[in-house]
Amino acid sequence: MKITVVGAGAVGASCAEYIAIKNFASEVVILDIKEGFAEGKAMDLMQTASLNNFDTKITGTTNDYLKTADSNICVITSGIPRKPGMTREELIGINAGIVKEVSSNLIKHSPDAIIIVVSNPMDTMTYLVHKTLDIDKNKIIGMGGALDSARFKYRLAEALDAPISDVDGMVIGGHSDKGMVPLISKATRNSVKVSNFLSPERLNQVKEDTKVGGATLTKLLGTSAWYAPGAAVSSLVHSIACDHKKIFPCSALLEGEFGLNDLSIGVPVVLGKNGIEKIVELDLDENDLNHLIESAEGVKKTNSLLNL
Ligand code: 2OP
Repeated sequence: MKITVVGAGAVGASCAEYIAIKNFASEVVILDIKEGFAEGKAMDLMQTASLNNFDTKITGTTNDYLKTADSNICVITSGIPRKPGMTREELIGINAGIVKEVSSNLIKHSPDAIIIVVSNPMDTMTYLVHKTLDIDKNKIIGMGGALDSARFKYRLAEALDAPISDVDGMVIGGHSDKGMVPLISKATRNSVKVSNFLSPERLNQVKEDTKVGGATLTKLLGTSAWYAPGAAVSSLVHSIACDHKKIFPCSALLEGEFGLNDLSIGVPVVLGKNGIEKIVELDLDENDLNHLIESAEGVKKTNSLLNL
């Protein structure tokens, strides 16, 4: 199982590290355009192999896509991260050109690869890859909801004063500060609805804190987060690589599901060896469905900036 990670920045390197530590891949190739940067990150990570007990071979390359040839899964993290106060959508001008070029280069050398898009604005970048590459739509996946759901569970566990392992919850919709849809009505503490433990006001605070989870960290760190994004991507890669068929909220191209068309947005999907094995049209109450529709309108507005 060969995985390529484009972008040796914090998110890409964290993703590569978590994939290696899970020890299911034979090889991870990290590619970056900055001379020597990917090679350095790969060598540093390989020097943890004996300490973290993995046999995955991690290599780095400076912009040589030949080294990525025949990858099974390719992760695109390249592009600029946001600075404090910026929205993800403001990155489109620079990141669109990068994502278009990177995805084309990847598929040229790995025609059967599954592509996972992380670069922001992620839903729009995922849609751009659908428009750029002539491959099965189920082999193009955007990572946002898995990260947002992890932040949602963190905030729920904090509010419940409960271990995160007891908490379940999902965020669908756009991966944007305003467009996320944390499914409060479906969140549980060990199968018990969280509304049994928390007031509507406290649940609303959990929802709002979740939606700005990325911006909160960008303000603290001065740049985008990387540990949780890297871990979220590695979880998607793991389910695909090992055909686990786990359900994650991912940005998927919709063709009528939830009454939505011609956009990529966060919905529950089953991830297996073929990429998106199935889009799960879970039942949404009127409130959540309306929020998803509103979120889709926001994503389509950003998509229109691509002038496709
Ligand atoms: C985040 O929310 C980078 O969009 C990513 O942290």
